Amino acid sequence: MDQYVIKGGNPLVGEVDISGAKNAALPILAAAIMPDETVLIENLPDVTDIHAILTAIESVGAQVTHVDRHTVKINGSGISDYRIDGDYIRKIRASYYLLGALLGKIHKAEVVYPGGCNIGLRPIDQHIKGFQGLGAEVELPHGRVYAYADKLTGGHIYMDVVSVGATMNVILASVMAEGTTIIENAAKEPHIVDLANFLNSCGASIRGAGTDVVRIKGVQRLHGTEYTIIPDQIEAGTYMFGAAVTKGDVVVKNVIPKHLESISAKLIEMGCEVEEGDDWVRVVASKPLKRTNVKTLPYPGFPTDMQPQITVALGLTNGSSIVTESLFENRFKYVDELSKMGAHIKVEGNSAIIDGVEGYQGADLSAPDLRAGAALVLAALTADGYSTVENVQYVERGYEDFPAKLKGLGAHIEKVRTDREAARYHFEEVS
Ligand code: UD1
Repeated sequence: MDQYVIKGGNPLVGEVDISGAKNAALPILAAAIMPDETVLIENLPDVTDIHAILTAIESVGAQVTHVDRHTVKINGSGISDYRIDGDYIRKIRASYYLLGALLGKIHKAEVVYPGGCNIGLRPIDQHIKGFQGLGAEVELPHGRVYAYADKLTGGHIYMDVVSVGATMNVILASVMAEGTTIIENAAKEPHIVDLANFLNSCGASIRGAGTDVVRIKGVQRLHGTEYTIIPDQIEAGTYMFGAAVTKGDVVVKNVIPKHLESISAKLIEMGCEVEEGDDWVRVVASKPLKRTNVKTLPYPGFPTDMQPQITVALGLTNGSSIVTESLFENRFKYVDELSKMGAHIKVEGNSAIIDGVEGYQGADLSAPDLRAGAALVLAALTADGYSTVENVQYVERGYEDFPAKLKGLGAHIEKVRTDREAARYHFEEVS
């Protein structure tokens, strides 16, 4: 199995280009099957979740043309099937966007029950409630979700929890419904605004995305467009924390600094210098990191997808910190791995109580999920000696060229296929 071998101790220094946002690209690729005309989508991240959703939309009859590594053309005029199946799609959470897109376009969709990172129970009741609010029937036959409707009619939908996925799915399903849909208590993440901007550029009428009330006036048809995906807030945040933990100096380029405000604010609280330009942010960590507390919240709060990375950083301060996870119930599984590196962290319910240590020691680690995997890599970059990180297929679901980008910043990291190769890498580096 693929693994990363990492020799810690080098500060990350230099500039890194941030790729397009995975969590914006996934719903936009699902939405791209809705017009009958061709859409061109640029700045897609080259990561496995994106490959999976492209395979899925091809499987129902969309025509996908790869223009270059980060650009595709999609034509949804030939959609001929409404069922999406297979192990490859079961693994990605965002498969649920295919429900909204197919339901919205052809009034019928059947998709395997969404999987994704194993970070606790991830219900889809709000998605179902939203579809039903538009007049659809929803059934759950044998680990699948089947939604259908003779006609979709705009409705007033109040979300019981703030859900990124459910907000986007209701937007997808209602964009060509008859009449107006109002979503209250909507999520406000930048990727929701990006999906709305994409659909509006295809002729949709969506107002209020980015606030907690979104209004969608159904249109009869959508047309073609050319669209560029926003930069990935979480990829950027991961490199920003990479600078912090390695006492480095990193400029993350091609970003929207506003999307990074909660991350920058915590880094400043922890004693880093953060400088912002129009489309870049620089993080300099020249002083010891300071303790703080943090609670994950929906946007514009501190993102749950940055929770493992900040925990790694707080584990290296000279005080006690508390990290509270308020979105997912089981998102501290990586703490056992950090303990192998000498971290002092105790998990109680949905909080991690951290007693900072002077440094981590290299260890053999296993990535339990996407963001935790990236955080373990950051920990290994600071550690004394070598670490290996297994199960990097999780990390590669969401980080384009992770080892190469880190190497560009001066890290010692190599992707290898076998333990033997890993041992050889140690040997070559040492001799
Ligand atoms: C998306 C992101 C994920 C991120 C999360 C929160 C994608 C593919 N994934 O996941 O990386 O961590 O947003 O920013 O974009 N909930 C319900 N019922 C529902 C839906 C959600 O109770 O029908 C709950 C969830 O269990 C969770 C909370 O709402 O506690 C937020 O989940 P949600 O925003 O829906 O996350 P995802 O869309 O799954």
